[in-house]
Amino acid sequence: MMFSLTPVPIEVLDFYDDGQDTRHYRFRLMDADKSNKHVAWHKAQNGQFFMLCLPGIGEAPFTFTELPNEAGEFRALVRQVGSVTHALFNCSVGDVIGARGPFGRGWPVDDMSKERLLIVAGGCGIAPLASLINRLIDTQSFTQLEVVYAARSRATLMLNPERDRWQHCVPFFTVVEDMTDLNEQEFYPGTAVGILPKVLHAFAEQPDRVLIAGPEGMMEAAAEYLAAYGIDPQSIYLSVERRMHCAVGLCGHCYLQSRYVCTDGPTFTWAELVPLHIDEQ
Ligand SMILES: Cc1cc2nc3c(=O)[nH]c(=O)nc-3n(C[C@H](O)[C@H](O)[C@H](O)COP(=O)(O)OP(=O)(O)OC[C@H]3O[C@@H](n4cnc5c(N)ncnc54)[C@H](O)[C@@H]3O)c2cc1C
Ligand code: FES
Repeated sequence: MMFSLTPVPIEVLDFYDDGQDTRHYRFRLMDADKSNKHVAWHKAQNGQFFMLCLPGIGEAPFTFTELPNEAGEFRALVRQVGSVTHALFNCSVGDVIGARGPFGRGWPVDDMSKERLLIVAGGCGIAPLASLINRLIDTQSFTQLEVVYAARSRATLMLNPERDRWQHCVPFFTVVEDMTDLNEQEFYPGTAVGILPKVLHAFAEQPDRVLIAGPEGMMEAAAEYLAAYGIDPQSIYLSVERRMHCAVGLCGHCYLQSRYVCTDGPTFTWAELVPLHIDEQ
């Protein structure tokens, strides 16, 4: 088990606003070339997370939108909601903060080149899927890939530069609830679940695997719909969020009945989650 309770220093390299109250950050592990402390970071996998540590404030978990490269640089999309994210938004380029990780079980790592894949992201849920979408597109390691991205309004659309690229590479359904100031040629009105019949119709055969991240209600409704459509619950993966403290399976803050979200997840199959009754927690 990965067991890191001591943060390593990271530098804020740059950031830009990317959606309401949201910024896309680029960080750099300090002394990435000199320290063997960073071996684990270079093995980080899509869908895993790290703890961002703001000295004197606290820690919070975030997923990688880009995994650490050889220079130790990685990216994360951060929505400002409370004390840790507020303190990060007050940091300047060049400031040094901390990070622990990488932690958890990410998206499946096996070969998907012969598979038909459906990805469904809602709101900030696009963050844990971004590095996977990039890898799939860059390596063309799929038979068919369709992506749904749902947002509440124009202001909350995130990862705008990345989506511009993806839309040119794979069928990409951007669905928005409030279509004010948006063009119906580019965006579908509605919700992630509402668009599923249309997206499933675009598959030559039923998808082999579905990866979902976003608000819990949306993920559950999508998983239920897809399971009822006939997709094996073991092939439907969801990224679950819970409050975290240690991130290494010690404190129990992230407990989901008999499972720890920090070490057993954050990615679970729908077959694993149904008996855990996440909707009742
Ligand atoms: C595995 C994992 C990956 C994550 N990845 C990202 C990411 O890539 N980008 C991102 O912006 N956020 C992500 N989050 C959520 C992020 O960790 C929380 O928003 C975090 O609490 C922010 O810390 P804070 O101190 O700024 O806010 P806090 O002071 O902790 O919280 C402020 C408010 O948000 C509420 N809140 C906090 N966390 C959650 C939650 N998980 N679900 C519902 N309400 C919550 C609190 O109840 C409070 O009202 C992730 C969470 C997990 C568990
Ligand atoms: S966060 Fe401590 S056990 Fe998961």
